[in-house]
Amino acid sequence: MKIGIDKIGFYAPHLYVDMNKLAVARNVEPEKFTIGIGQEKMAVAPITQDPVTLAANAARTILDDEDKEKIDFVIFGTESGIDNSKSAAVYVHQLLGLNPNARSIEVKQACYGATAGIQMAKGYIALNPESRVLVLGSDIARYGLNTSGESTQGAGAVAMVISADPKILALEDKSAYLTADIMDFWRPVYSDKAFVDGKFSNEQYIHFFNTVWEQYKAKSDLGLNDFEAICFHLPYTKMGLKALRTVLEEADEADQERLLANYKSSTMYNRNVGNIYTGSLYLSLVSLLEQSDQLKDGARIGLYSYGSGAVGEFFTGILQPNYREYLQAESHAELFAARTEVSIEEYEAVFQETVPVDGSTVEFDATKDTAAIYLAGIKDNMRQYVNKSN
Ligand code: COA
Repeated sequence: MKIGIDKIGFYAPHLYVDMNKLAVARNVEPEKFTIGIGQEKMAVAPITQDPVTLAANAARTILDDEDKEKIDFVIFGTESGIDNSKSAAVYVHQLLGLNPNARSIEVKQACYGATAGIQMAKGYIALNPESRVLVLGSDIARYGLNTSGESTQGAGAVAMVISADPKILALEDKSAYLTADIMDFWRPVYSDKAFVDGKFSNEQYIHFFNTVWEQYKAKSDLGLNDFEAICFHLPYTKMGLKALRTVLEEADEADQERLLANYKSSTMYNRNVGNIYTGSLYLSLVSLLEQSDQLKDGARIGLYSYGSGAVGEFFTGILQPNYREYLQAESHAELFAARTEVSIEEYEAVFQETVPVDGSTVEFDATKDTAAIYLAGIKDNMRQYVNKSN
């Protein structure tokens, strides 16, 4: 039985910062951000968007009534969750009106969370072929103003329906994975900003990639030539390129060219959204599928997932017949076109506006938020969500 991605969509908040302008404001050469890091625009989440609303907005555009009835497992991967007890999946389940006879959980392992969700979903569908699983990866990446990680922030979510006989990508069974206890990036429960050893994190990302890639080749008897494209977890778009370059010589010249061209397609959305942590690899997959005109049905796509701390995995999927018909390319183009640029001063003000942590009641002004689902306020320590499309 084939199991894999039946539907995939993403959402990013309606505000963004131009990286050239951020560079000027930070006294950095713009090329450092646009070429050295590889980012053009960075999505900025207003106070009315949090990981729950971002995920719900990503999912609402891909689900039909049949999905809402058949989804009986919601897995929410996040590392910027809003509650230490209740899962973000339960809120999304309610906001989308899913079948009450469902399981809803949150999973955490830095940017690896959504991949853990997909692998769990795959096993679940193998046992329950009639079911569908909604896997979400949603985060707001915050390093802080004027920090070295600032240029690798972002906000957004990816939503995927995992099912039997998927219309987009059938996951293959061979996979290679690795865990090692390292401190390259972490966020203690008392901090709303991540701690990061940036250079070490870059090194480990590549070390994990090289290790799982070698393991994968040994397990599968496949090589780089067997891949039409490889998508990477992208904290910034230069990161995946650095990893890809470490293995590129294993392929002949034509394959190298193809892999590099497809790499470019796989980074276009990320370049304009920024880092969305758990969703980043899957935003890259959406970008590849919607922006590459070279891909053919039956092509093999590699996926490299990395979650600091750290867990890495390399796994693969095969593009299904007529997969293009099931993508959301037009609505994603509209989403990008409808965004509003904010100045650096506006971005700094939005960044500093955070939800109260003293139990006070607030109502947020959501009149400028174009999202269907938003955070309207906090009352009695409870987040008040609104779905204005209901
Ligand atoms: N033109 C073109 N490139 C330029 C440049 C210019 N004017 N100025 C600098 N660069 C390049 C550098 O050469 C470097 O490229 P390289 O890595 O290929 O050598 C790149 O821009 C970044 O410069 P660097 O000095 O290393 O930046 P930094 O010290 O500010 O830190 C990160 C960059 C990514 C480490 C930092 O943003 C960070 O900590 N990010 C969060 C952690 C993270 O994303 N980890 C990834 C694994 S999940």
